[in-house]
Amino acid sequence: MDKFIINGGKRLQGKVQISGAKNASLALMPATILASGESVLYKTPELNDVFTMIKLLNQLGIETEFSNYILSLNTNNITSQIAPYEHVKKMRASVYVLGPLLARYGYAKVSLPGGCAWGPRPINLHIEGLKKLGAQIELEQGYIIAKSNQLVGAKINFDKPSVGATGNILMAACLAKGTTVLNNAAMEPEITNLVQFLINMGAKINGINTSILEIEGIDELKPAVINTIPDRIEAGTLLVAAAMTKGNISIEGGIDSHLYSILSKLEDSGAKLTISENEISIDAKDIVINNVDVTTGVFPGYPTDMQAQWIAYMTLANGVSTVIDTVYLDRFSHVGELTRLGAEITVQDNSAIIRGVPRLNGAKVMSTDLRASASLVLAGLAAEGTTEVLRVYHLDRGYEKLEQKLKSLGADIERVSSPEF
Ligand code: UD1
Repeated sequence: MDKFIINGGKRLQGKVQISGAKNASLALMPATILASGESVLYKTPELNDVFTMIKLLNQLGIETEFSNYILSLNTNNITSQIAPYEHVKKMRASVYVLGPLLARYGYAKVSLPGGCAWGPRPINLHIEGLKKLGAQIELEQGYIIAKSNQLVGAKINFDKPSVGATGNILMAACLAKGTTVLNNAAMEPEITNLVQFLINMGAKINGINTSILEIEGIDELKPAVINTIPDRIEAGTLLVAAAMTKGNISIEGGIDSHLYSILSKLEDSGAKLTISENEISIDAKDIVINNVDVTTGVFPGYPTDMQAQWIAYMTLANGVSTVIDTVYLDRFSHVGELTRLGAEITVQDNSAIIRGVPRLNGAKVMSTDLRASASLVLAGLAAEGTTEVLRVYHLDRGYEKLEQKLKSLGADIERVSSPEF
């Protein structure tokens, strides 16, 4: 099992390229199920969740080729409509195959994802939405079994915007008979990327980039190509890393409108930002970090996937800040680990109250989930002395070669294999 050894205190400097967005890829890949033939996804990031999705799609009979960030998927010979527990337990996004399989084959059997490291994550909105499209759905021995001879368009109002439910039902609705309206749909850029891909496949969708999507079902989609959008969470993580180390970096390929909530919080914290066409630069050489409160929300609000990183940043702020997560109420497993580095944080319900300290001190800490791991790496980069981050397999799920990117910016970080668990 790998761990990172970080000797903190090095200012990050230089330029770094942002990879394709994990959460976009995980929706685009199953969308290819909707058509027969070869689709090509450009700028697909090479990270473990993508490899897990490839394995699941291979198991369904989809042939894949992946090199140089170009992922080709041939869906001519899909032989199975079953997503087994072994895959879904590794990655919840596996549930994205449900809508497309059901729409194209009239049948899908997908393991229920269960809970995750930060509590229960229901999929009731996915199931209720598909039922509204006329699917018969039963839960048997931990599996969702969905059947339908012909999905039929419907008006669906989401009680809350869900990225996964919007994606799943949107994909299914493309092959339903008649018109579907999704009200209060998620507007995350990854959903917009998916909508664009479906349109490229021939789907008839109005309302791209808004919370009301209107889909006129058609009989058949065709394979298509698309560029995956850049990963706004990777971009945000690297910008916070620069701010925490009083560095000065430029990220290439990030889209500033996707990052607005993060950039504006960074500016409030005292970092200087310069935005040009293909580059966002941050200068934090002389920063005295202001305490800045954050409340997470659905896009365009501040992303929950950047909550842990912001808490890590605020541990070094000049004053007290509060970070409230309204999306996942108990996603705070990083807090206990950050306190091992000298951070002063208390958690009350879904709020973390962070009292800034002058410095963090290196220690051994353990990753508990993907973004929690990122927050520990950030803290380790800024801490005095050596930090060891154990169980970086969590981080490898969603960041592409993070330690190599950080190294290229001057960080002292090594990946070593370790018998420690
Ligand atoms: C996606 C992202 C994840 C991110 C999250 C919120 C992917 C692969 N993952 O996850 O990184 O943290 O969006 O931006 O894109 N909910 C329900 N019932 C449902 C579905 C969701 O109550 O059926 C709730 C969830 O518990 C949560 C909120 O809705 O409180 C948003 O979750 P959702 O947007 O669905 O998250 P995911 O799609 O699972």
